Amino acid sequence: MSSDTPIVRLTDLRLSRGGRDVLRGIHLTVPRGSIVAVLGPSGSGKSTLLSALTGELAPASGRVEVLGRDVPQRSRALLELRKGLGVLLQGNGLLTDLTAAENVALPLRAHTDLPDAVIRRLVLMKLHAVGLRAAADAYPRELSGGMARRVALARALALDPPLMIYDEPLTGLDPIASGVVMSLVRRLNDTLGLTSIVVTHHVHETLPVADHAIVIANGGIVFSGTPEQLEASADPLVQQFLRGQPDGPIAFDAAPRATEVA
Ligand SMILES: Nc1ncnc2c1ncn2[C@@H]1O[C@H](COP(=O)(O)OP(=O)(O)O)[C@@H](O)[C@H]1O
Ligand SMILES: [Mg+2]
Repeated sequence: MSSDTPIVRLTDLRLSRGGRDVLRGIHLTVPRGSIVAVLGPSGSGKSTLLSALTGELAPASGRVEVLGRDVPQRSRALLELRKGLGVLLQGNGLLTDLTAAENVALPLRAHTDLPDAVIRRLVLMKLHAVGLRAAADAYPRELSGGMARRVALARALALDPPLMIYDEPLTGLDPIASGVVMSLVRRLNDTLGLTSIVVTHHVHETLPVADHAIVIANGGIVFSGTPEQLEASADPLVQQFLRGQPDGPIAFDAAPRATEVA
């Protein structure tokens, strides 16, 4: 993959779930080294978009290229591609009966045959990168929500993936922990030379660290530009979303406001 090949390229993508189009006409290019925020109300299709990047959902039509190649549909090729993706899904997915270090070691044990001593050193490096080396032997229940999220981040980084994908990384975190996680996302992106896609409905916490933002609503991309352009946008759809207003051009029927806090 040459250095100017986009890390992700979506071309006229259409994604369906349960026989219904969730997204259509999606075009997106994610340049290497950038952090792209994918914003939009609950139920707008953000997680669906990510599932196309990881190959979990095949496109109804259009093209999905990740790390310079079409996302394969065959399971063996897909496993290979996924080694290059660091995915932090909604919820931490930490195993509660394993320590922080053992959780971070899981992908290394699954995908490499490195000796234990080497794995231990790599794990401590990843925990150090998220500021939690001292918590290596703690169990998830002994960690705060923000610390547990950072352990999950360290685990997503375990195999040194060039592309990090975060789905709602701030859910359940207080404002201080949210700030810590988002500045970590930026710092890791820049120091490790990653590219990051952050899916979230937490606009105000995410925009300050993003290079580019897209807003999805009503089945498509309704805005694509810099965070500054987003804040300045006069588009009523964008304004409704930024201000969190339930009434306006975005149909909230797929996402009752009452359930959004859950
Ligand atoms: N497995 C599924 N089967 C059918 N519909 C689904 C499935 N997953 C999500 N959907 C629907 O697709 C739409 C987008 O969902 P999702 O991508 O999870 O939204 P977001 O992540 O933006 O909150 C919603 O209307 C949701 O109900
Ligand atoms: Mg989602």
